[in-house]
Amino acid sequence: MSSVVIHRDAQAAAVAVAADIAAIIRERNRAGRAAVLGLATGSTPLPLYRELVRLHREENLSFAHVVTFNLDEYEGLPADHPQSYRHYMEQNLFSQVDIPRASTHVPDGMTGDPAAACGAFEKAIADAGGLDLQVLGIGRTGHIGFNEPPSAKDTRTRRVALDDVTRKDNSVFFGDVASVPRAALTMGVATILEARRIELLAFGSGKAGIVRRARNESPNAGCPATWLQLHPACTFHLDPASSGQA
Ligand code: F6R
Repeated sequence: MSSVVIHRDAQAAAVAVAADIAAIIRERNRAGRAAVLGLATGSTPLPLYRELVRLHREENLSFAHVVTFNLDEYEGLPADHPQSYRHYMEQNLFSQVDIPRASTHVPDGMTGDPAAACGAFEKAIADAGGLDLQVLGIGRTGHIGFNEPPSAKDTRTRRVALDDVTRKDNSVFFGDVASVPRAALTMGVATILEARRIELLAFGSGKAGIVRRARNESPNAGCPATWLQLHPACTFHLDPASSGQA
């Protein structure tokens, strides 16, 4: 079962999720183990990353022993491309905290062998001991990561074609839809569901319809976020608008 918390606004949600992440990092540090975090990109987690950077600067939260795995990367974008998700993570988190780059993993959108790269990504997650916590956004197609409909519950990290709705939504970052890559590498639904804890963030009225579907439809491949209902510790962090209350 997934649970829902409706926060006052996106900032309040970001503070709450950052506090959960900080607690996991500190608890793991005390136990002498690395915290393994699954991370998302896009507009939604930006306030979360700002809050994590603040905790690092002002409250001594160290990322020195944190290991991260990002959900996805566009195919064909090099790491230094301004719209690549590696670049996004560098800008918004990695360069602003003390995480060793070798501890950060983003699927390689430039690989010549996607199947091998995706297999290695899965193995790296397993070798790290699995994801302690996965941060998610949700796309208007119902995608989590870039698991576009239809995405089955047993899907693993793989190359996927991006939905036209997603390419149009993400064209705001690229200037025009033609510049948005047609494919990506994404962590699979099964990989996401294996995280010990999942925190999904969704803000604004534009997400209200898909959040309603994700929570109310029976789990199905046509709305991949519905699979989250099967997870024992998944929380939807909403604002009044995405919850349908505003
Ligand atoms: C990003 C990702 C996507 C986004 C989703 C929402 O790494 O995997 O699933 O979370 O497309 O994007 P925003 O937050 O820009 O609305």
